Amino acid sequence: KSLGIGSAHGKVILVGEHTVVHGTPAIAFPVPGLRVSASVRRHVTGQKGVQPRGVETAVAGALRRWNRDIEGVDVALHCGVPPGRGLGASAACATAAVRAAADLHRVPLDARTLHELVQEGEHVAHGRASGVDARAVAADTPIWFAGGTARPLAVEMDASLVIADTGVTASTCDAVRRVRTHLAASPADRERTLGRAAVLVEAAADDLAAGDATGLGLRMRDFHELLAALGVSAPAVDRLVAAALAAGAAGAKLTGGGLGGCVLALAAPARDAAGLRAALERAGAVRTWSVPLGAAS
Ligand code: MEV
Repeated sequence: KSLGIGSAHGKVILVGEHTVVHGTPAIAFPVPGLRVSASVRRHVTGQKGVQPRGVETAVAGALRRWNRDIEGVDVALHCGVPPGRGLGASAACATAAVRAAADLHRVPLDARTLHELVQEGEHVAHGRASGVDARAVAADTPIWFAGGTARPLAVEMDASLVIADTGVTASTCDAVRRVRTHLAASPADRERTLGRAAVLVEAAADDLAAGDATGLGLRMRDFHELLAALGVSAPAVDRLVAAALAAGAAGAKLTGGGLGGCVLALAAPARDAAGLRAALERAGAVRTWSVPLGAAS
């Protein structure tokens, strides 16, 4: 075989980003419309494709593990996930590339090995990463993520997640550092914040299972306030959150690393998604996407 191919998709975090790095659970959804494809060929052309650092680390780790020549491949990526917007671009690129390397070398790739390799890349790309992105970009269903592992989550709701890009690129690494500093400043505040985060994520899972969009919207708003208090919102994010709520969204919040990036809003019923997207674009979103919850589960 001279060419291996692999793919993955982007993700959004419904609730639980940042506090998940400190041990609380999180809920994430795959975004099948944001696709990454990778091809890996034996090194013949001397031309390297795009290789973000985390991708290189993950692929090199795979080749080392399989006793293959580390210098021996070229990776080409087509990344349909905008980078630096909290949509999982780094994890999706590494996942697609490791899958392509496994395909090239005809090595069976189990979920655990894939996760370990992608996490090696994520630690280079993000600093300390919880693993939620690596799990979500490889998942076919919404996931409940806790303690490094993921399980499929039941969703029964006539609603759509609307993602709106502020157009502001931000560094997840910086945001994660900021939260760590904030939490280290006061042990009492740390306990309170992480306890509250865990309660909100548990409640959101119950809302999803019960089809309670109003409840879920409230959890999203509350989680946004919690993240803003941790210092990872941004004026462009707060503007789009306010615009989503003014346009009738059940809830809205930042999603992913924050400090820019994307806003996630809940359209319920699902048919309201088109109107919400239009309102967010009028309010300055550079792009919007929607993920129907029915189809996602
Ligand atoms: C980034 O998508 C999610 C964060 O919680 C970081 C992580 O979990 O590794 C901000």
